[in-house]
Amino acid sequence: MKWFIDLFTSTLGRKALMALTGLFLVLFLAVHLAGNLQLLKDDGGRAFNIYAEFMSTNPLIQTVSKGNFAFILLHIAMSVYLTIKNRQARGPEGYAITSGKSSAWTSRNMGILGTLVLVFLVIHLKDFYGQMHFGQMEIVEYEGESYRNIYATVSYWFDKEWYVAVYVFCMAAVGFHLWHGFTSAFQTLGWSHPKYNPVINFVGKAFAVVVPALFALIPIWMYLN
Ligand code: HEM
Repeated sequence: MKWFIDLFTSTLGRKALMALTGLFLVLFLAVHLAGNLQLLKDDGGRAFNIYAEFMSTNPLIQTVSKGNFAFILLHIAMSVYLTIKNRQARGPEGYAITSGKSSAWTSRNMGILGTLVLVFLVIHLKDFYGQMHFGQMEIVEYEGESYRNIYATVSYWFDKEWYVAVYVFCMAAVGFHLWHGFTSAFQTLGWSHPKYNPVINFVGKAFAVVVPALFALIPIWMYLN
């Protein structure tokens, strides 16, 4: 039980919580992308609507979804707490010299990048999640079964140039955030070993480029088609 209390009350524990929730969100992103790639199918949204209906009504997925929201909040709370603590420890002048790895651009700007991702999430959840769970939805029928037409909502938004531009910009922020965050989480948790570090680094960087790029491709593709 003590380790559980330490997790929430000690600085090391809070860092571990930020890393663990971050890695869970990485997993969520991979699954979310796999589902969303169905938007690229030329089927009028059928596959995506069937998938979204399943995801938003299956009790097990809905339980994981609640955990997902809790982890997002926990990740934000820990990052705000650790940033404030860091600033206090540094004093009013801050560090005069930043050196080596810690001076990498992404590492120094994780707070700004994270805030951009949060702004994106608020817009995204309002327009898509909010619509799916609390909005008035058009109903479509496939083989006698009724489904909410979330594809129509997504198409409506991705038909707007400015909206697509905001998405693509925000995906760059997600990418930069992951560029540092993915490998940093492994280091924080002590999951590092000279033999495996190059692999973790490669997978982290590849994930940070490929996943946001594919997320960005979806609105661009839908806008052009
Ligand atoms: C092209 C890009 C994207 C599309 C088309 C998309 C689409 C959607 C849709 C339709 C929903 C509502 C589904 C439902 O409630 O059943 C949803 C939920 C969500 N999206 Fe996205 N999404 C995209 C990118 C992202 C990105 C990059 C993130 C995170 C940085 C994200 C985070 C979320 C979260 C946290 C939820 C709530 C999931 C839950 O119920 O637990 N999405 N998205």
